[in-house]
Amino acid sequence: MSDPVQQAYYVTIVGLGLGIVLLSFIVAIVFLYQRRQFQHQAELNRMKYIYDQQIMKAQLEMQEETFKNIAQDLHDNIGQMLSMVKLTLAAVTVDPNIPHHDKLMNSREVLNKAIMDLSHLTKSLHSDRIAHVGIVEAIQYEVDSIRKSGLVKINSAIEKGSYYLGEQNSVVIFRMFQEMINNALKHAKATQINVSINNPDGNTFVLSINDDGIGFNVQEMKSRSNSSTGVGLRSMTNRAALIGAKFDLQSKLGSGTKVTITLPLSR
Ligand SMILES: Nc1ncnc2c1ncn2[C@@H]1O[C@H](COP(=O)(O)OP(=O)(O)O)[C@@H](O)[C@H]1O
Ligand SMILES: [Mg+2]
Repeated sequence: MSDPVQQAYYVTIVGLGLGIVLLSFIVAIVFLYQRRQFQHQAELNRMKYIYDQQIMKAQLEMQEETFKNIAQDLHDNIGQMLSMVKLTLAAVTVDPNIPHHDKLMNSREVLNKAIMDLSHLTKSLHSDRIAHVGIVEAIQYEVDSIRKSGLVKINSAIEKGSYYLGEQNSVVIFRMFQEMINNALKHAKATQINVSINNPDGNTFVLSINDDGIGFNVQEMKSRSNSSTGVGLRSMTNRAALIGAKFDLQSKLGSGTKVTITLPLSR
């Protein structure tokens, strides 16, 4: 081969080689850049998630603090006054023959009921108590109160076992339970509510609440993002996410509503 041809040959080979190296270099840079961007985005998402969780946690803590203060005030002020009136009235002997005897006795009964309702309210507001007695007892107390009120038929099936959820989780689960019960009482027109707690595999807490009421369209409710209805359901989803629980809501028009909350038990 003549020299110029050989030279051209070499130049082409070297040029091609350089081209390939350059191309690989560019591809590698683009790839690395994209990967960095991807990692950066993932990091941003992670930070946003943590930030949202912290905001939510702060909001819930503030709400619990407010509940606690209200409970304390109700107990210390109105509760004390009602108890005083009750004691004073109990000290008065009422002759059945006096005029308005029945009205007086009726007022005493109403007063007793008010004291009991107030006591119930303060108990279900106070998160320390919920954390202290534990989730099962707090729920059972609530179920018994509803049963006594005669508003609706309510059944509870609580599988025996130890359900230690930790204090914060207990309060969060209890608030979700209250929201579901309130919804069943307020919207469902239910004749019966069933509450069950069980531990299917030895380390999972499962709470189910179902009513036989009118049901609703869950998808439609979820898509109503800009209305004030749905705050309860949204806050339940948020609360569940906060403690790492699974929240499953099923409802069908005319066939009632069922909610299941699943949470791994603390060890
Ligand atoms: N158990 C239920 N039975 C029937 N409808 C329900 C039930 N729970 C929720 N809903 C419907 O979903 C809507 C949203 O519920 P929620 O987010 O708790 O808001 P709110 O109770 O403040 O209206 C309710 O207004 C009601 O129409
Ligand atoms: Mg509600």
